[in-house]
Amino acid sequence: MKKILITGGAGFIGSHVIRLFVDKYPDYHIYNLDKLTYAGNLENLKDVEEKPNYTFIKGDIIDDNFTQKLFEKYLFDGVIHLAAESHVDRSITNPMEFIMTNIVGTVNLLNAARNIWKNNFGDKRFYHVSTDEVYGSLGETGYFFEDTPYDPHSPYSASKASSDHLVRAYHDTYNLPVIISNCSNNYGPNQFPEKLIPLFINNIRHNKPLPVYGKGENVRDWLYVVDHARAIDVIYHSDKTGETYNIGGHNEWKNIDLIKVLCRVMDKKLGRDKGTSEKLITYVTDRAGHDLRYAIDSSKLQKKLGWKPSLQFEEGIEKTVDWYLANQEWLDNVTSGNYQKYYEDMYGRR
Ligand code: NAD
Ligand code: DAU
Repeated sequence: MKKILITGGAGFIGSHVIRLFVDKYPDYHIYNLDKLTYAGNLENLKDVEEKPNYTFIKGDIIDDNFTQKLFEKYLFDGVIHLAAESHVDRSITNPMEFIMTNIVGTVNLLNAARNIWKNNFGDKRFYHVSTDEVYGSLGETGYFFEDTPYDPHSPYSASKASSDHLVRAYHDTYNLPVIISNCSNNYGPNQFPEKLIPLFINNIRHNKPLPVYGKGENVRDWLYVVDHARAIDVIYHSDKTGETYNIGGHNEWKNIDLIKVLCRVMDKKLGRDKGTSEKLITYVTDRAGHDLRYAIDSSKLQKKLGWKPSLQFEEGIEKTVDWYLANQEWLDNVTSGNYQKYYEDMYGRR
C-alpha cells in the first residue's frame, strides 16, 4: 500500500484533494498533516474521517524535529504539499507567519523527504502546490506560461515564489523528484469566508456591505476547486519529475462583473427582489500592491496530460452558492470561532 502524505488537507483545496485520493485510490493510505490554523477545519472531511485508508495527523510543518520524526515513522512514498498561509490581505498585516510556514515549512518537508528517500527515488514524488501569483501582474493582454519570469508583489506571493525556487533547487542539487503546479484563483465549497466569493456570499446573507477594493477592475481567472483537485491527481501521477504545470480555467472575470453575477444569483436563491444585493456594493481603499490581472495558459497540462476543466463558470457559481446556502451552519461556525475553541479543547494548545 502506497503511503501518501498530503499537507494542509483540512483547508479549502486540501480537503477536496484528500476526498478525491481517499475515494479513488483505496490502495493508497492517505495521511493528512495539518496544523488546524483558523483556515483548517476537520468539518470539511466529515465524510472521509472513518475511511480505512485515511489518517489525520495534527502537526506544524514549521517544527523540523516533528517533521523529521514523522517521515521516519511513516516512510511516505509521496508528498502532496498544500499547507500554507494563503490569504494575501493577512500577509500584508503579518508577513512573518507566511515566511515561516510557506518557506521554512516547505524546506523542512524537503529535508525530511530527502532524508528518508536517500538517493533511492524510484517512483517517489514531492509535489509542491503553488499559485499563479508568483508570476506577478499582467496588463490588459497576455498570459502566464510555465517559463514566465517570477515577479511576486505581496508577502504571500513572494513567500510562495521563494518556496517554488527552493523546491526546484532541491531537484537540481539533490535530484529530489519534485513536481510543481501553479494554479489560478479557486472557488467552491469549503473556502474560508475571508476570500472574495465566500466572504461576499456571507455578507449578502447578512445584508452587510460588500467591500470592493479600488474600482473593482482587477481581473482574476477562476477555477472550480474540484477541477484543481483533478489536475493535482493527473499531475501527481504523470511520468516525468522536475516539471512545472500551470492550471487555470480560461475564465477571466473583472471583480466587479463577477460580484454582480454573484449578487444576481444570490437574489434569485434567496428570493429577494432583483438588484437588492447589488445595493450592498461599497468601494473601499485598494489593497496595497494589488495585482491588476492574472490569466493562466494551461495548454501544457491540457496537451501533455489531457486535463481540462469540467465545469462552466455559470454552473460552478450556482453550485457554490447552493453549497454555502445549504451549509449555513458551517459558515456560522467558522465565522464564530467555535470550531477553533473545539480544537483547543480536543487537541490542546501547542
Ligand atoms: P487554506 O488557507 O484554505 O488552507 C491551508 C491549510 O494549511 C489549512 O488547513 C491550515 O490549517 C494548514 N496549515 C497552515 N499552516 C500550517 C503549518 N504550519 N503546518 C501544517 N499545516 C498548516 O488554503 P487553500 O486556499 O486551500 O490553498 C492550499 C494551497 O494551494 C496553498 O499552498 C496555496 O498557496 C495554494 N493555492 C491556492 C489557491 C486558491 O485560490 N485558494 C490557488 C492556487 C494555489
Ligand atoms: O491566484 C491564486 C490566488 O488566489 C491564491 O494563491 C491565493 O491563495 C488566493 O487567496 C487567491 O488570491 P486573491 O488575492 O486573488 O484572492 P481574494 O479572494 O483575496 O481576492 C480576489 C480579488 O478580489 C482580488 O482582486 C481582491 C479582491 N477583493 C478581495 C476581497 C477579500 C475585494 O475586492 N474585496 C475583498 O473583500
